[in-house]
Amino acid sequence: MGAQVGTDLARAARLLREGGVVAVPTETVYGLAANAFDPDAALQVFAIKERPSFDPLIVHVGERSEVARVARDLPPGAEALMDAFWPGPLTLVLPRSAEVPDVVTSGLDTVGVRMPAHPLLRELLGQLDFPLAAPSANPFGYVSPTTAQHVADQLGDRVPYILDGGPCVVGVESTILGHESGRWRLYRPGGIGMEDVTRVLGKEPEVQAQSPLQLPAPGMLASHYAPRKPVVLGDLDELHAAHAGERTATIAFQRERSPGPCRVLSPSGDLAEAARNLFAALRELDASDVAVILAEPVPEEGLGRAINDRLRRAAAQRPA
Ligand code: TXA
Ligand code: MG
Repeated sequence: MGAQVGTDLARAARLLREGGVVAVPTETVYGLAANAFDPDAALQVFAIKERPSFDPLIVHVGERSEVARVARDLPPGAEALMDAFWPGPLTLVLPRSAEVPDVVTSGLDTVGVRMPAHPLLRELLGQLDFPLAAPSANPFGYVSPTTAQHVADQLGDRVPYILDGGPCVVGVESTILGHESGRWRLYRPGGIGMEDVTRVLGKEPEVQAQSPLQLPAPGMLASHYAPRKPVVLGDLDELHAAHAGERTATIAFQRERSPGPCRVLSPSGDLAEAARNLFAALRELDASDVAVILAEPVPEEGLGRAINDRLRRAAAQRPA
């Protein structure tokens, strides 16, 4: 029995009010949403995703006024970041309020908060009197979904309703910033470029060192966002030579390559277009009849930082 997919906002709102879980579109990737103030609803999200309880959820608000319900003592610069990038793909990790249940924050004394830009989700949030806790709507560790069909393919039998908002226009997850020891830190590169963040803060955020075991940003797990097939990242000419004779697929930035199936992320070299196409390309090639996926990095600027980050994680060795 597959999930229902549609654009029935009233139905999505009803399910969420009853303590259920609904897959929702955001401008970044699809999310698996539940009432952020209902611990039992949030627990279902962890169960559906098979997500470890130590990995906290992002809380999505529809209005700036709701921030005060979930967070307190905003660090300097937080308001300026919200002014500049909300609604949009920026998550701020802030001191939490007591109203947010422990299950949502994994017991941390901080909460990740963002105001999404997708019009359908904004309408849904407007009909609810609670914010939505939502991780990406994929099984834990797999590539995030950027269409309703991606969600249906993997979680269709576990969620009662998928709200279809079309393909995600950003295509990679939100940029996550936290404030520690008097400084802003980048926990995850994403849909807002570091250059833009730096412009607003007047100072570059510190890039959090990446280690597989590092908390408090378990999204930084090395092997996150990974397809099932091995992914190798590098110069495509060298990779094709090294993998000659194997059945390979290719993810190229601008120029089509052979042999095997190839996905070009952006013929014109537009990083926003490349980000939009990245996860669908990984999914399609993961489903194709090849032994290995070869990919090349894109320029490390703007959205390119998030793209390269996801490609590196996809390529990270996983335990068998
Ligand atoms: O674009 C996005 O952010 C999407 C859409 C659905 O909004 N959401 C998303 O959620 O990517 P998720 O759960 O897949 O990734 C969120 C990351 C997690 O790795 C989590 O560890 C981190 O955010 N996070 C959440 N709350 C945190 C906190 N209080 N401190 C540190 N990291 C936190
Ligand atoms: Mg995720």
